[in-house]
Amino acid sequence: MSVTELAYTSAVEAETTPIFERAERIIPRVEWPIHAPYVAAINRLKRERNAVILAHNYQVPEIFYTVADIVGDSLALAMQASKTDADVIVLCGVHFMAETAKLVNPGKTVLVPDLLAGCSLADSITGADVRLLRERYPGVPVVTYVNTSADVKAESDVCVTSGNAVQIVEALGAPRVIFLPDEYLAKYVASKTQVEIIAWKGHCEVHERFTGADIIAYREDDPSLVVIAHPECPPDVLAEADYVGSTQGMVEYVGEQAARAARDIRPRVLLMTECSMADNVAARYQGVDFVRPCNLCPHMKRNTLPKILHSLETMEYEITIDPLVADRARRAVERMLEYSRAARD
Ligand code: 13P
Ligand code: SF4
Repeated sequence: MSVTELAYTSAVEAETTPIFERAERIIPRVEWPIHAPYVAAINRLKRERNAVILAHNYQVPEIFYTVADIVGDSLALAMQASKTDADVIVLCGVHFMAETAKLVNPGKTVLVPDLLAGCSLADSITGADVRLLRERYPGVPVVTYVNTSADVKAESDVCVTSGNAVQIVEALGAPRVIFLPDEYLAKYVASKTQVEIIAWKGHCEVHERFTGADIIAYREDDPSLVVIAHPECPPDVLAEADYVGSTQGMVEYVGEQAARAARDIRPRVLLMTECSMADNVAARYQGVDFVRPCNLCPHMKRNTLPKILHSLETMEYEITIDPLVADRARRAVERMLEYSRAARD
């Protein structure tokens, strides 16, 4: 099927109406005739190809609520990728997430809808940089955020996500570690542990734009505001936050606020993270009011329904990793997954 044949026919309408009903709190009805033909075609091709769509929490609602099979943070997507029995994984997120999926399940075809969906953190460091750090700090373990290339992971002892960084740094039992590449996540981890942290100067171009002064200004208007921040935010933001955690942790914390709402309080939540995540969470929790300072991740936003359809039609763009790099990078990711499974069980 080619994109030009797509039309909002009565058959497409009938097939997609139950899907729209899941998403109607967030997707305007007037937009559905544009999305629906893609949604129908993508869902049909997923069945034909035995494909699964993994979508990060920052994907737009028309991906998150209508074609994604699994949604979550980086850790959840890596774990689900490792155990899927689908033949094809379409990763709607950014490039490092797709590489991670390929590392943990190398026998699968892993596709990304847009090869240019990168990440400022992943771009901030190379494998050669890590080798130099090892020379400078011999014997010090290298702990690497998953927001990095496979080359960087291959030079690392263990990977972490924002959901398990503190726990894994402590579990290593070393007096100090090199923590790469997010300076602010490194500072957050340092604030939670006695382990000495040697940091790099990488930043997330989305979260570095939030400031503690923003929060103070919002709180002047509403002192009861509940502030939830991602640990990629600068320290002055985290100092003002009521909760700091991964995107999945943030969703769960909003869920706890929604439970308060059930007891006749209507909480107001300030989400210091990417715009679409705030849209997706707001659609899910009706009893909570949201303040949503909106910083877009331009990389996450490269994924669109037409590109996902193109990806499934053409089987582009396939993620491949040099086997020598992949073997070493896989060890660092698997070690992270083992810690996380042990903590969960
Ligand atoms: P999470 O693992 O918390 O979803 O974060 C990934 C990310 O890229 C946030 O900017
Ligand atoms: Fe990278 Fe920041 Fe975008 Fe996450 S939000 S993918 S850390 S640039």
